[in-house]
Amino acid sequence: MDYRFCGRSGLQLPRLSLGLWHNFGDVDDPREAARMLHYAFDQGITHFDLANNYGTPYGSAETNFGKLLHTDFASHRDEMVISTKAGHDMWPGPYGNGGSRKYLIASLHQSLRRMGLDYVDIFYSHRYDPDTPLEETMSALSDMVRQGKALYVGISKYPEDKAREACRILRDLGTPCLIYQGRYNIFNRAVEHDILPLATEQGMGFIGFSPLAQGLLSDKYLNGIPADSRAAHPYGFLKREEVTPDVMKKVKKLTDLAAHRGQTLAQMALAWCLRDKAVCSVIVGTSSLAQLQSNVAALDNLSFTDEELWLIGEQG
Ligand SMILES: NC(=O)c1ccc[n+]([C@@H]2O[C@H](COP(=O)([O-])OP(=O)(O)OC[C@H]3O[C@@H](n4cnc5c(N)ncnc54)[C@H](OP(=O)(O)O)[C@@H]3O)[C@@H](O)[C@H]2O)c1
Repeated sequence: MDYRFCGRSGLQLPRLSLGLWHNFGDVDDPREAARMLHYAFDQGITHFDLANNYGTPYGSAETNFGKLLHTDFASHRDEMVISTKAGHDMWPGPYGNGGSRKYLIASLHQSLRRMGLDYVDIFYSHRYDPDTPLEETMSALSDMVRQGKALYVGISKYPEDKAREACRILRDLGTPCLIYQGRYNIFNRAVEHDILPLATEQGMGFIGFSPLAQGLLSDKYLNGIPADSRAAHPYGFLKREEVTPDVMKKVKKLTDLAAHRGQTLAQMALAWCLRDKAVCSVIVGTSSLAQLQSNVAALDNLSFTDEELWLIGEQG
């Protein structure tokens, strides 16, 4: 596995990280989840991305990850980077959502309990909350670092102007923003215009999520919606309506292009995300060991010709 420094920090992340949003909850197969975690770690995927509300039901991905951590990986904690987040809906009432100090600090304590950890490596504000002063959210993040409950902090999905302001506040507090987590894939390139340049300017790492557009950028939906797919699951975030003939036409063209490169579409889509120097790592989500094995092989061919990039851009 190849590792990259995360922005101007001393922390290195693997080019591929593993996300536990779907596929690690109580509704999922625990044996497959264990197989994927073992394979990932054995391949040098040392970074595991979680959030308070990952898994169905909320919290179950952290609980299940915590169990495996203690039974199978106890002696490897210091070889892992474990991240979690809070910001979206988690528990009822006014303190289980948003960016308040009350919510973020309570949620971190809950995440640590669920995973059986003393600290997480990275804690993120999961979204910008327009109803909470940015100073309050950032000082809560900074205090987590001072208390030793998080080693680094990051932000996710913040608009550019708020991300810039967050970076300034965190720098002034002496706890620089390590990383920005944003959606990035062939179908969604918005971060290229503002967030990637900002990350470079601020010395903040960038990590991409949903690099396969939740599975659309694979061969999975070419012949309809399989019963075991995210689009078919009632608790999946990808909706059936998003699998349109128009999207599938693009997927077909991209699949042919990937085949010319000797890759599957999923492999090409991952390699494409990693071509930009500003991208430190991408977070893959997989529902089976076979998917993860195939995705790791994306790292075998990361270079693109100008013509290939142009043709991919045509379908974006
Ligand atoms: N910060 C945020 O707000 C935010 C938001 C979203 C995600 N994330 C993070 O990013 C991670 C990844 O997001 P994501 O799960 O949307 O990523 P993704 O890689 O775009 O989609 C993952 C899904 O794609 C399908 N897939 C993966 N590899 C495949 C392959 N080789 N062949 C065919 N299908 C394949 C699987 O779908 P099936 O289940 O249908 O098999 C899998 O569940 C999350 O786990 C989370 O850690 C963060």
